[in-house]
Amino acid sequence: MANKIVLTGIKPTGKVHIGNYIGAIKPALQLANHTDYTSLYFIADYHGLTFIQDRNEFNQLSYGIAATWLALGLDPEKVVFYRQSDVPEIFELSWILSCTASKGLMNRAHAYKAIRDMNEQSEIDPDTGVNMGLFTYPILMAADILLFQSDLVPVGKDQIQHVEIARDIAESFNRTFGEAFKLPHYLVDDNTAVIPGLDGRKMSKSYNNTIPLFESSDMLSKLINKIKTDSIPPTEPKNPDSSSIFTLYSEFAEQDQVARMRNRFESGISWGEAKNELFQVMNSFLERPRNKYDELLANPEQIDAILSHGAQKARAIAAPLLEKVKKQIGRYV
Ligand code: ADP
Ligand code: TRP
Repeated sequence: MANKIVLTGIKPTGKVHIGNYIGAIKPALQLANHTDYTSLYFIADYHGLTFIQDRNEFNQLSYGIAATWLALGLDPEKVVFYRQSDVPEIFELSWILSCTASKGLMNRAHAYKAIRDMNEQSEIDPDTGVNMGLFTYPILMAADILLFQSDLVPVGKDQIQHVEIARDIAESFNRTFGEAFKLPHYLVDDNTAVIPGLDGRKMSKSYNNTIPLFESSDMLSKLINKIKTDSIPPTEPKNPDSSSIFTLYSEFAEQDQVARMRNRFESGISWGEAKNELFQVMNSFLERPRNKYDELLANPEQIDAILSHGAQKARAIAAPLLEKVKKQIGRYV
């Protein structure tokens, strides 16, 4: 039986943080080592362009995402690792799909709808701040997914709707022009911890409460010291299960260390000490990837070489399906 295709993209719209690592990158790296799957991971840079319209920022965030994956151990020989904008077939398919996708489907897509609702509440033109890229975002995402006959799309909960839209678009194309696309499934891991941010809410770029993965060790220490704690006195027992510090510690420490830390919480550890222990385990885990990340970013041509090799592999997979689709729409016989 042929391998299942696993595909996912990350859009470069902010610095990668600890939550992204635990929730998305770490599980994807594990899947990449699975021999039953062929994994395609890409930088969704043209999706990022719907938000990031500063040249330097766009450039740096895109290289930053690529360097993050590589620094954390993604082996570009084991997976197909590419930059979306290096694969023109995606954009050609995106247009073809936009001709069978209904506008109503886009009206209901949550990112667009959220802005519209906000504008309506503020009693301004509902389309203020909406570019067409943002409006048709789910069509480009459908092209990303369908062009590679993806079986599984690992995503965060917020992206489920987009994968469902990709299925709808595939069905409507298949109905109109004949079978072409496989229907993809999303893969949402409910067991993955929701990593808390500095203020105790879910860590997210949108809440400005993140610990970026690759800050200097000084900055990491400063950020860890900012994690919100309560005012229980230093020697009093503390509940590890309601502590962000303990949750983060558990993600980076060995099992026996976690057990010992649980005891220390229960018998009383000062927040200062707990933060220091957290810094130690995080810093020692991140030290090597951080060096690798800095090294890669200092040599962007090395990243380019890896990504263009990946794009060649991606295009070789994509081209035959695009040809088939073009025949089906009557572009040629
Ligand atoms: P953000 O909320 O910072 O904008 P994204 O929406 O870009 O993050 O998420 C990218 C990936 O990282 C998704 O798969 C998402 O589920 C995962 N992720 C984001 N924040 C967290 C978190 N705090 N804990 C676990 N996973 C997270
Ligand atoms: N929209 C996704 C996000 O915001 C990124 C993305 C673009 C993606 N194309 C994709 C994810 C295809 C999975 C498959 O996180």
